[in-house]
Amino acid sequence: MKCVLASSNKHKLDEINKIMNEFNIELITMDEIGLGNLEIVEDGNTFEENSFIKAETVRDITNLPTIADDSGLMVDYLNGEPGIYSARYSGKNASYETNNTKLLAELSGVGTVDRSARFITVITLLFPNGDKIVVQGIVEGEISEKICGENGFGYDSLFIVKGYGITFAEMDSNLKNQISHRAKALQELRLKLENYYGDSNENINS
Ligand code: IMP
Repeated sequence: MKCVLASSNKHKLDEINKIMNEFNIELITMDEIGLGNLEIVEDGNTFEENSFIKAETVRDITNLPTIADDSGLMVDYLNGEPGIYSARYSGKNASYETNNTKLLAELSGVGTVDRSARFITVITLLFPNGDKIVVQGIVEGEISEKICGENGFGYDSLFIVKGYGITFAEMDSNLKNQISHRAKALQELRLKLENYYGDSNENINS
């Protein structure tokens, strides 16, 4: 099955691609179909609404099955922030670095027990006929007191993964791709796709 990925985030593309290869789904990027500069206004109030907005916009233009994800970090002490604003947490010109600096500042002086957090991904797959599959993945952890590790992107260097004691940025990317919020959502997507196509990999390939 060919499917457009409604995202231009290179890191996500790599992660989703690696996992989708296993499912025999061929991802086409926005760049490949001339939509690399498309700006989508993500004005939903939830991860689910924003992933739907992205998928619907690109599906309507391409008339191809389209997959979009919306993800973010939710910190309990900050009442779920940065949440849907994870990408622009430190303002309009936010970078991964300025976002991490702001997060560390907001949690300055906050002890380990109160630094619990989770990454959430919602993935929406929209078909040209209007069928919709929505899945979610969550990974629990806590926010480190300093930057640790160099792999990955975004808040990876601050997110200590529950049960592993290291940040996503200290982890081999293959391990992150097995246990991440996106990986969990994609495993769920696989199950739903098998169901959608009548439990047959042959059909997923057609
Ligand atoms: P998006 O809206 O789905 O593109 O993601 C919003 C923001 O959440 C990204 O810009 C990152 O800052 C953060 N984020 C999402 N997934 C991850 C991840 O796997 N690691 C680190 N940060 C992430």
